[in-house]
Amino acid sequence: MKYISKLNILFLILVLLLAGMLVLNFYNPPLKTGFYCGVVSVPYDQPILISANSTGEMLYKDNCKSCHKLHAESVGPALSGITERRSKKWIYAFVQNSRGLINKGDTMAINVYNKYNKAEMTSFPTFTKAEIDSILMYIEHSLLYIPEK
Ligand code: HEC
Repeated sequence: MKYISKLNILFLILVLLLAGMLVLNFYNPPLKTGFYCGVVSVPYDQPILISANSTGEMLYKDNCKSCHKLHAESVGPALSGITERRSKKWIYAFVQNSRGLINKGDTMAINVYNKYNKAEMTSFPTFTKAEIDSILMYIEHSLLYIPEK
């Protein structure tokens, strides 16, 4: 008699365990949304970062592309990596008024001007820093965007 009740208890525990496992198996905790720390892989042929920055892309294509390429020399130098070569402050000043910088005697501006056969770059005095920033963001993200026609 004692033996049977022990067996019953064991059986009960087993059933409870199985039931618990079954419940856990079907319980999918909701995906947490919010801040994640990690690496998001971006497929090479899908420039999603660029489409997320369409103002910069538009400004670049309308105003800079005629003379600049991202990854190769054109009328002017390749602009990919420009923020590593030059400070933001310098870029703002140069884009807004390159002649002004050259006249002030800025050696970097004079050197690049001479290197490109003294072809004066169009000035964009109405461009705000925010607009130039968006162009720079587009250019920087172009590092992920390899093909260029
Ligand atoms: C008419 C042609 C032309 C246009 C349009 C033009 N650039 Fe330029 N850019 C040049 C040339 C040529 C140089 C080389 C420096 C010089 O000759 O003054 C240059 C140089 C630069 C430099 C300095 C590069 C370095 O390595 O120091 C930056 C930055 C730049 N351009 C950004 C822009 C941006 C941003 C636009 C669009 C808003 C633009 N350029 C539009 C011709 C142009």
